[in-house]
Amino acid sequence: MSDRIVYLNGQFVPESEARVSIFDSALMYGDMAFEMTRTFGHKPFRLREHLDRLYGSLRLLEIDCGLSIDEMEKLTRETLERNIPTEADDMDWQIMHDVSRGPLPLYSSAFAAGVQPTVSINCWPLITHTGGFANNYRTGVEIMIPAQQTIPAHLLDLKAKTRSRVHYRMAELQGQRAGGRWPVLLDPDGFLAEGPGWNIFLVRDGVIFTPEPRNVLNGVSRNATIEFAEIPGIEVRETNLGRYEALTADEIFCTATTYSIVHATSFEGQTVGDGQPGPVFQELLNTWKDQVGVDFVTQAFDYAPRVAEWQKNDAKRTAQP
Ligand SMILES: Cc1ncc(COP(=O)(O)O)c(C=O)c1O
Repeated sequence: MSDRIVYLNGQFVPESEARVSIFDSALMYGDMAFEMTRTFGHKPFRLREHLDRLYGSLRLLEIDCGLSIDEMEKLTRETLERNIPTEADDMDWQIMHDVSRGPLPLYSSAFAAGVQPTVSINCWPLITHTGGFANNYRTGVEIMIPAQQTIPAHLLDLKAKTRSRVHYRMAELQGQRAGGRWPVLLDPDGFLAEGPGWNIFLVRDGVIFTPEPRNVLNGVSRNATIEFAEIPGIEVRETNLGRYEALTADEIFCTATTYSIVHATSFEGQTVGDGQPGPVFQELLNTWKDQVGVDFVTQAFDYAPRVAEWQKNDAKRTAQP
């Protein structure tokens, strides 16, 4: 059994015993909100910002999870503290919050204690995420526009981070079929929105551009990037951006919680700039590392050769009764 501990509905339980009902509204409708936070040097990065977004998502979904945001923060820190000793000291963590409306009332007779929202907080070592990702820091990523478009905010507001994400999944599948490219979804007006798990930035003549925070998840890493750009004095503009702006950009990069920031080498099959990480990206990458206090690129390359062994050991631990 893995030693990891999960918070689930008022209790700390071993990860292998954390179960959600097949009657849960999450399974029935994707009716739930979630958050993914990471640690740098064991410290959660912008946890309160993630929790603010979680509580905003819950508000939109009209789910009362039964915990105040302060209680959620305390439980999150406690869950992390319980898990940190289960791994080597250099291991950073993913922290996942999953909150659903709970089992559908129709099936309430199957729940002796009554139905309540399902609240879980789990921690997973980042080795499999960033170790598997490391090479992208070297090669950059290739971006394409998939057939799948995004859902505009007036139909379903994507500022809420919910598990109703089939459109993102379709875009990912289309990207995979196109040779492992990263899909950036367009909104119905043809403007760039976001990737299935990341926000996009373009650079032109030393100025950073990113889509308005309208038909996109307002990424915590997106916000951090906008703030960090102020440190070396790089201007950032939030505006409508189309295929043309991307094709004529000097640099393109993506941001997300696990890997923070990565550069793109091509857009729709055409090389971005000279295909190398550009000066604005380099500056921001260094600022990111300074601000979070961890060289997460070196860390990812350090994890990379250990992933297979770690997975083997984890599978062994999980298989033990
Ligand atoms: C659709 C979408 N856009 C953007 C992001 C990036 O957000 P963050 O920087 O908070 O990880 C995510 C993260 O999961 C996402 O799912």
